[in-house]
Amino acid sequence: METSSSSGEWTRMSTRRLIQFLARKLFVFCLLSLLILSVLLFVRVKYNTIPESSGLFRASGLQTFFKHNINCSAIYDLDPVEVGKSLTIRRKKMVEDKDESLMSLTGNCSFFTQVRGYDDVCISEEERDFPLAYSLVVHKNAWMVERLIRATYSPNNIYCIHYDQKSSAHFVSAMQGLSHCLPNVFIASKREAVFYASISRLKADLNCLSDLLRSEVKWKYVVNLCGQDFPLKSNIELVSELRELNGSNMLETSRPSQLKRQRFTFHYELKDISFEYQKLPVKTQQAKSPPPHGIEMFIGNAYFVLSREFVLHLNSSDVVRDFLAWSEDTYSPDEHFWATVVRLPGVPGEVPRSLPDITDLMSKTRLVKWHYLEESLYPPCTGEHVRSVCIFGAAEMHWLLNYGHWFANKFDPKVDPILIQCLEEKLEEKRRLFQAKTILTCRKG
Ligand SMILES: *[C@@H]1O[C@H](CO)[C@@H](O)[C@H](O)[C@H]1NC(C)=O
Ligand SMILES: *[C@@H]1O[C@H](CO)[C@@H](O)[C@H](O)[C@H]1NC(C)=O
Ligand SMILES: *[C@@H]1O[C@H](CO)[C@@H](O)[C@H](O)[C@H]1NC(C)=O
Ligand SMILES: *[C@@H]1O[C@H](CO)[C@@H](O)[C@H](O)[C@H]1NC(C)=O
Repeated sequence: METSSSSGEWTRMSTRRLIQFLARKLFVFCLLSLLILSVLLFVRVKYNTIPESSGLFRASGLQTFFKHNINCSAIYDLDPVEVGKSLTIRRKKMVEDKDESLMSLTGNCSFFTQVRGYDDVCISEEERDFPLAYSLVVHKNAWMVERLIRATYSPNNIYCIHYDQKSSAHFVSAMQGLSHCLPNVFIASKREAVFYASISRLKADLNCLSDLLRSEVKWKYVVNLCGQDFPLKSNIELVSELRELNGSNMLETSRPSQLKRQRFTFHYELKDISFEYQKLPVKTQQAKSPPPHGIEMFIGNAYFVLSREFVLHLNSSDVVRDFLAWSEDTYSPDEHFWATVVRLPGVPGEVPRSLPDITDLMSKTRLVKWHYLEESLYPPCTGEHVRSVCIFGAAEMHWLLNYGHWFANKFDPKVDPILIQCLEEKLEEKRRLFQAKTILTCRKG
């Protein structure tokens, strides 16, 4: 009995152990499956977001900017599922594109031009006969500068990069890398320390303009861009629209309000008062003399599309030189300098003073969304606001591309990386579409 009892006990015990053993096994098995599943998911996520031409990179250890797995046609069509996906991507902590990676990549020019497709850009005859110049006033985020150049690129355009004296060493090296690898990209010969709303911002563009005039490329128009701008047209579309300008300039130029008049009726001093900007021009009680040569003041923004003849005239005009000197101690002179000189009687591509205001929405150079005009003039911002300007989100892609403007501001990969990626894709698509109707000349290697 005892034996059988103990044997029964043993059997019970071993059954329990067996069950426990199996349960543990099962638990381990489940755990393992879960682990494998997560690894697979992780690999899938990683795989989805690695750069397109990853095959080339694995061997070299070099990389470009981050690319996300998204259907840009669906984003453009405002497909709710795809837009929702872009919002999910935005909420995740994003990998920052490092200046160092562009610096390394441009260390090998043949590799860089091949990977970024600079070596096989074809242009139409129309584009070849109409070179454009760019003045890029930038200070950080090297990859955005490269993407801006790539999105507007034609081998016969010319690009001047003005980097800030305060820029980081890695950023400067990346910019030098770009100018080293691309024959039509150069660094401004004179560089300013640029402070927000001060004359230095204007001088940075003027430094590039004077270098661009000396270049052997006989560009027809010059466009200035900053690091948060992006084009809304491909080069071939832009060339065809600038041809139609027929030598006139395109920029905002309006009569200033009483409030804005204070910007140049008082003397301003650059002071170390701002944490955000380091230095800012501060208004004093000292009144300024009226502008020289009886110049009538107009106000606009810092962005322009100017003809070569107009820029040549600026460079040789005493009136313009005196006006620039007078503007030194005003607030944000870049926002009244261009708007005023384009109204000077007799300048090439003049906007006569008698003509009504040209607002920023009438000028096609730069599309900007102001917080206080949203819903009355345009649909609301789907990104974020900074100083009442919208940093666009992916849901605005359709609106941006169909508004008719040439460039827009502001874009930031930290706010919405999908929008920039999809604009690049769409511009490339538009370029092919427009070029399909023309004769192409291709740059070799
Ligand atoms: C992307 O979305 C469009 C609709 O907007 C659809 O026609 C197309 O098939 C999609 N492409 C892929 C690869 O899913
Ligand atoms: C540069 O990249 C090319 C691939 O395009 C590679 O064959 C070559 O070895 C690289 N050169 C150097 C110096 O790393
Ligand atoms: C272009 O401008 C020139 C002179 O500025 C003028 O003679 C010509 O008629 C204009 N052409 C068109 C199509 O507007
Ligand atoms: C611009 O002006 C400077 C000084 O007046 C002059 O030396 C230079 O030749 C001008 N550049 C061009 C391209 O006309």
